[in-house]
Amino acid sequence: MLETLEPRGRFGRPYLYEPECESTQLLIGANPEEGTVAVCDFQSAGRGRLGRTWEAPAGTAIHCSVALAPPAGRAPQELTLVGALAAADAVEVATDLFVQVKWPNDVMLNRRKVAGVLGELRGGTVVLGIGINVNQTREQLPPDARRPAGSLRTLTGTEHDRAQVLSTLLWRLEHHYDEWREGGLAALYPDIGARDFLRGRRVTVDGVSGTVIGIDRAGRLELDTGGERRLVESGEISYS
Ligand code: BTN
Repeated sequence: MLETLEPRGRFGRPYLYEPECESTQLLIGANPEEGTVAVCDFQSAGRGRLGRTWEAPAGTAIHCSVALAPPAGRAPQELTLVGALAAADAVEVATDLFVQVKWPNDVMLNRRKVAGVLGELRGGTVVLGIGINVNQTREQLPPDARRPAGSLRTLTGTEHDRAQVLSTLLWRLEHHYDEWREGGLAALYPDIGARDFLRGRRVTVDGVSGTVIGIDRAGRLELDTGGERRLVESGEISYS
């Protein structure tokens, strides 16, 4: 049950819950203060990255949006990686399994995407939307994913307490966000490197192919394109 939350820190004050909404990215409101969290059990128009939709049957997943007010002069797009790292921590605590981050915003468990992060900039505020597939059965996961998605349930064989996963998510997000405020992505570099799903893989991004060296301290994907080093700011990745 996600109706109420006992915030462990600053995030979740205030906590906005509705059983159903179009998208928690809208439920959070036009001008939310930092730490505001919006959650619902069913989204009728959930938003994914690159204009895609994000769907899950009522009561099976976590849909949450968090308002962040990063310091001026910082790169707000880096916050999707911060959110992915927090979601990876929360999934790892729940499952006791090693969880990875796939640049720029996916969370992977056993090569399946179990969570995604969407950052939307509104004035100086970033609304960070995080979706985690928790208790969907295989049949309830999106059939049209280019690569089959997973949920904590399909990958561990048991159901998980969404409230606990949400509480850990917000706690870890606050922790990593504070690290990022202090020291930028460089402060999270060891954590991101340890969870880097793409490192060493052969990928193609926007027509450029290469082997992934890693994620650099500015959150860019570093590619070796055959002796030449290329830095990718954003894009759609395909990998083998
Ligand atoms: C992606 O991987 O494409 C990002 C998915 C982000 C989904 C979350 S669910 C909570 C928040 N509300 C939305 O409408 N989208 C984000």
